Amino acid sequence: MEQLKNNKKYHIKTWGCQMNVYDSQRIGEILLSLGYQETEDLTESDIVILNTCHIREKATEKVYSEIGRLSKLKERRQEIGSNLIIAVSGCVAQAEGEEIQKRSKFVDIVFGPQTWHKLKEMIDAVNSNNKYCNTSFPVEEKFDQLPEILDKNRVKSSSSFVVVQEGCDKFCTYCVVPFTRGAEYSRPTFQILSEVKNLVNAGAKEITLLGQNVSSYNGEHFAGKTWTLGRLIKEIAEIEGLERIRYTTSYPTEIDDELISAHKNIDKLIPFLHLPIQSGSNKILKLMNRKHTNKDYLNIIEKIKSSNPKMAFSSDFIVGFPEEDDNDFKDTLSIINQVGFIQSYAFIYSKRPGTRAFTYEDTSLTTEILKERLKILQEVLTLNQYNFNKNTVGSEFKVLLDREGRKENQIVGKSPYMQTVHINNLSKDYLGKIVNVKILESLPYSLRGELI
Ligand code: 5AD
Ligand code: SF4
Repeated sequence: MEQLKNNKKYHIKTWGCQMNVYDSQRIGEILLSLGYQETEDLTESDIVILNTCHIREKATEKVYSEIGRLSKLKERRQEIGSNLIIAVSGCVAQAEGEEIQKRSKFVDIVFGPQTWHKLKEMIDAVNSNNKYCNTSFPVEEKFDQLPEILDKNRVKSSSSFVVVQEGCDKFCTYCVVPFTRGAEYSRPTFQILSEVKNLVNAGAKEITLLGQNVSSYNGEHFAGKTWTLGRLIKEIAEIEGLERIRYTTSYPTEIDDELISAHKNIDKLIPFLHLPIQSGSNKILKLMNRKHTNKDYLNIIEKIKSSNPKMAFSSDFIVGFPEEDDNDFKDTLSIINQVGFIQSYAFIYSKRPGTRAFTYEDTSLTTEILKERLKILQEVLTLNQYNFNKNTVGSEFKVLLDREGRKENQIVGKSPYMQTVHINNLSKDYLGKIVNVKILESLPYSLRGELI
């Protein structure tokens, strides 16, 4: 029989994007402020939070199987007169709401991405034997009501996330984000600057500014005056002790001159942009309700590169969107080879309830075709990545060392282009530091280097 400890403990399981990672960190901070301790061990947790992702069907399925496992644990706890609070948060919670509690009577709390600041109220409700479900959208509120404590895990690897923008107004026809995260909202500059300063004081050397459409950032500075992302980055770069700035994810038509000039003039801003295009075919881009053509995309890349030739790019791709034929797929391969993306993500289209494309049908796209296209796409992307990595052999980069490698005395870090760099025979004292590294060798998905 399991032995529960006296102190209350929490465990958070996170799926999906970096925004969810950030939300989980903040949920953890709130639980710490309520007296809970974090644990990796499910069997000693008093509350488990499943912070979920709804972007593709597979991600959602995983949540339900995890709920099944936890329900068994909860039943066993109840048999011995104890309890385990099961909470489901994030985008599946937002999309499915009370349905989750109808499907599983063991789920105590369901809350969307905009309501984690009400966690105390939720736990109190459960302790009074009530179920709790809140999927409202008070996005500003949650940022206003954070406890002023910093979980040291947030700066564990000297790299931290800060959400600057949330939500999406683009309504790409395949995507659930506008429904699960709501309308675009930018946090005011003072909040962001103070959060970044706190993190840097706590040891962060790298900050990643997050937003579903981070390039649409338009946060209030003061008295009705707003700042763009480029302007915000300029200010953040002034913070002493901060060495590196990244941001993600951007939308092609929103890359403005201020951001392009930030990439030219601000050394702390890494020369790398994740700019999803999704498809290289104008027919498919239109069906996806993307607000750009393939030519628009290429023009933006050209403009950025001519301002700073060191810039490199990555992207997201969806294969097998309804009506994608061989020519459309060829257009996608062609744009990849024109841009030369240095790393990218590719997904098979997943039909999502509530989106416009849910009603689109294309029975000619068999599973075989989808798998074949994904395979080809991934091969081309890997080749692009491999070529880029090969070309960086002999270069000298600043590398942020953030974890131990698999081999003894091996430390692993990230180059300014987000490449994984292994360094052998290095002491753990280097963890968390940014060091100058010469790249010696290119491996299939990573690099090997040495300190200089
Ligand atoms: N099916 C497959 N991939 C999707 N994405 C978003 N929605 C879907 C979907 N329904 C991908 C897009 C996006 C990334 C985060 O997930 O490529 O940029
Ligand atoms: Fe989804 Fe499109 Fe918005 Fe990105 S821009 S979050 S893909 S709707």
